[in-house]
Amino acid sequence: MTDALRNAAIDILKINDRGQYTVPTKGLYPFQWNWDSCLTALGQRHFDEARAWTEIETLFAHQWPCGMVPHIIFHQMDDGYFPGPTVWGTNRPVPTSGITQPAVAGFALKRLFDRAQDPAHAMTRLRALLPKVAAWHRWFYATRDPQGEGLVAILHPWEAGRDNSVDWDAPFDQVPTDGITPYTRRDTLHADPSHRPTKDQYDRYLWLVEHFRALEWDTSKLHDASPFQVVDPGFNAILIRACSDLADLAGFLGEEQIAAENRHFAQRGLSAMESLWSPRHGQYLCKDRITGKLIDSASVGGILAAFCDIPRERAASIAATIRNHETRYSVASHPPHDPRFDAKRYWRGPVWLVVNYMIADGLARAGQQDAAARISADSLELIHKGGFAEYYDPITGEALGGGQFTWTAAMVLEFLARETA
Ligand code: GLC
Repeated sequence: MTDALRNAAIDILKINDRGQYTVPTKGLYPFQWNWDSCLTALGQRHFDEARAWTEIETLFAHQWPCGMVPHIIFHQMDDGYFPGPTVWGTNRPVPTSGITQPAVAGFALKRLFDRAQDPAHAMTRLRALLPKVAAWHRWFYATRDPQGEGLVAILHPWEAGRDNSVDWDAPFDQVPTDGITPYTRRDTLHADPSHRPTKDQYDRYLWLVEHFRALEWDTSKLHDASPFQVVDPGFNAILIRACSDLADLAGFLGEEQIAAENRHFAQRGLSAMESLWSPRHGQYLCKDRITGKLIDSASVGGILAAFCDIPRERAASIAATIRNHETRYSVASHPPHDPRFDAKRYWRGPVWLVVNYMIADGLARAGQQDAAARISADSLELIHKGGFAEYYDPITGEALGGGQFTWTAAMVLEFLARETA
């Protein structure tokens, strides 16, 4: 059974492999996505270590001179996706989007390196990537934390990777929709529209893109010019974990400056995370940097915060919060007792395996073994029931969104390895 599952996961990674990068799934997402690729590499390492490093190297080959690593690389044109390169207008040799995504690369490198079957090979590949990831981290704190608070802001919901989370509903009130160029969506041709973001949300996504494009994608200007500036605990936790993992790797390679800089980012970030803790919700919350207030939305972003080294008592509270969700499958991207919960709509309720993986990893590190084991077991059960989908209904377990999904398959290989460790 385990072997069959493992082989099925490997097949999906191979079907979606385009040689130097992997598409998330055919049709719906025909390019390279940033955090998808880094997490995909963790699956690839189980059957082809060299290919896993290539996945991340290809991503970083498209890093901007300022240090940003874009959220999409448009390697080959494909009309089946909107918004494509002309809407972004970023003027790069190979077109890319102009925003970023969760900085999971530093963590992925450490996992690839720590578990490498061929350490000498891993060391060579790591040495070349290390300064690039360090430049990305430096870019984050320089451009997205201009006041030096220790936490970075996202300027577009797509940066969080949780596109239509309830977290963005209130901050979206500050984003206008007037004057946007008329457009036709393509996502709703590939997936059920009732499982996707709404038109109103799409209008705002595009307003922001056009606003940043008018500023010629000068990433040093976008933060202050954006009406949407949200400090997301999940996004920050991933960056903090990546900084601390990169610091360890740099220390190992004798790159003392990179090590010290990243250790500093991680420590400062960890103390600043405290300002996002909500005792009432038993988890972290997003903060709207425009209003200065915490956002009353107990989404999975505040649970994903367990991925970095938060205090142990906070991890224990988060484990209890997940238990209180009362869904058959954990972890719902929004708690079902909130009226805004929607079991089938993308990031407003469904379970995502990548998020489960990071939460389980963090909770296990914090000593919450039982909670981590349950998340792992639920994740594998969803696959047995519905196959390798993009996301799942947390109540019925129904498979939703795109099929034959790359990062879902990659996470299955990781969960299986964990179960048999
Ligand atoms: C969706 C997800 C995002 C992911 C992308 C490709 O936009 O919300 O997190 O990176 O699809 O899978």
